[in-house]
Amino acid sequence: MSKVIVAPSILSADFNHLLEDIKKVEEAGAEWLHFDVMDGHFVPNISFGQPVLQCIAKSHGMVNDVHIMISDPFKYAPEFIKAGANILTFHYEACKSDKEVFQVIDLIHDYGCKAGLSIKPNTPVEKVYPFLHSLDLVLIMSVEPGFGGQKFIQESFTKVFRLKEMIKREKVNTLIEIDGGINDETAKIAKMAGVDVLVAGSYLFGHEDIKERIEKLR
Ligand code: DX5
Ligand code: ZN
Repeated sequence: MSKVIVAPSILSADFNHLLEDIKKVEEAGAEWLHFDVMDGHFVPNISFGQPVLQCIAKSHGMVNDVHIMISDPFKYAPEFIKAGANILTFHYEACKSDKEVFQVIDLIHDYGCKAGLSIKPNTPVEKVYPFLHSLDLVLIMSVEPGFGGQKFIQESFTKVFRLKEMIKREKVNTLIEIDGGINDETAKIAKMAGVDVLVAGSYLFGHEDIKERIEKLR
């Protein structure tokens, strides 16, 4: 089984010392850096946008894993890719049709970026099936999107397991990422269910033992 990828979410970082916090997780072995972009419309909270990504995208050597919890992803996708996204993950629920989902995936790929699709806890995992052959990644939200530090939704494990079955059946290389309430306990079961990438915010940032915590996630 290949080593799971750890993607710290900067939503939980100390924005007074953002670059220092980013260096800490990079030195502690994180492979990706997760940007939780929120527009206060698709989700109730507002976090940050392109300027923050532009500012820090090249200040580290990790993969810029950008999760846009925003309305109208077709309109904004190019701007986040130009700002430095290496993987751009948008929401199924932000699109009006499967046709639009395919249009956003194709647009992201046209800009030379990897494309991910995220589903909220109440969206059945079967909804991503039509797109599997086009997607580089599927992000399973294990909390209601909008805030860090929430409690993990247990049903997410079943969604990961069923998605893994679909991926094996379709013989595609789509990665499974999980986001929300990830700690040393939930990570264990998420990996058994088939997750490839773990997003963690409050479990990592703000703690002195980040390196040990990242190792515990693996
Ligand atoms: C929810 C956010 C959070 C964040 C992780 O919209 O996407 O899930 O990434 O936060 P923690 O790890 O603190 O749950
Ligand atoms: Zn996220």
